[in-house]
Amino acid sequence: MASRGRRPELRGPPELYYDKNEARKYVRNSRMIDVQTKMAERALELLCVPEDKPCYVLDIGCGTGLSGDYLSEEGHYWVGIDISPAMLDEALDRDTQGDVILGDMGQGIPFRPGTFDACISISAVQWLCNANKKSDVPAKRLYCFFSSLYSVLVSGGRAVLQLYPENSEQLELITTQATRAGFTGGVVVDYPNSAKAKKFYLCLFSGPSTSIPEGLSEDTEEEKPAKSTFTAERVPYRIARRGVVRKSREWVLEKKARRRRQGKEVRPDTQYTGRKRKPRF
Ligand SMILES: C[S@@+](CC[C@H](N)C(=O)[O-])C[C@H]1O[C@@H](n2cnc3c(N)ncnc32)[C@H](O)[C@@H]1O
Repeated sequence: MASRGRRPELRGPPELYYDKNEARKYVRNSRMIDVQTKMAERALELLCVPEDKPCYVLDIGCGTGLSGDYLSEEGHYWVGIDISPAMLDEALDRDTQGDVILGDMGQGIPFRPGTFDACISISAVQWLCNANKKSDVPAKRLYCFFSSLYSVLVSGGRAVLQLYPENSEQLELITTQATRAGFTGGVVVDYPNSAKAKKFYLCLFSGPSTSIPEGLSEDTEEEKPAKSTFTAERVPYRIARRGVVRKSREWVLEKKARRRRQGKEVRPDTQYTGRKRKPRF
């Protein structure tokens, strides 16, 4: 799965690993912004929420709010929870549109039952598999997390959690605790044959089991080479997304491709797709 030496979860508790310095670097890293945005996009696609109805979404391990920004861009309202004050400070500095709270998902999600329509989490849940204190028992923390998540979702609500399991035992531990907590669902693996692009999405349903979408493969989408750059300035979200402006042709084409992958009927792309209409009087 990922190489051991480079895994942040093995370098100490998340609230210490994501300190002021790391949080600053994180939110200015154009590759990080791109990756978090793409994974949030895929998570939202896997959630299959109605496209034209805003939902109230929980973002677990929301960090600096990069994943949340994508939810806002798609017209949803969100609340984020994160254990790192430094990451949340960056989210507040960036004026993200969601509300953020400080909290440890391993101690449960502190909201009333049935608060959220859906939940996403990007690159956070694997942190629960590591014990940083003697009293931390990963299975117990995972169970506490999943059972509280089950409760804060509306009946029939869904959660899509992108995560980086260290090995198959860890994935098994996570899915077992999710099932114990009452969830049905499964794991979608995108790009299973690519060391770099392979991604795991745990898709959970709080209602009866639904069919799990297929993972993406190298045949469905070309992998673009990823490059990391740091800037001294705060990178505005739209520029960081390499100019993918809402309602632009590129934005419309991406959205249509996403709908096609969801099996929806979409009109063919033409030279007029995404073209600005002249104002009507
Ligand atoms: C890779 S970052 C993802 C950030 C976020 N998705 C974004 O868009 O900026 C992982 C986040 O998970 C958070 N995290 C790790 N363990 C956590 C826990 N037990 N409870 C809440 N958040 C946690 C970390 O603090 C970190 O901000």
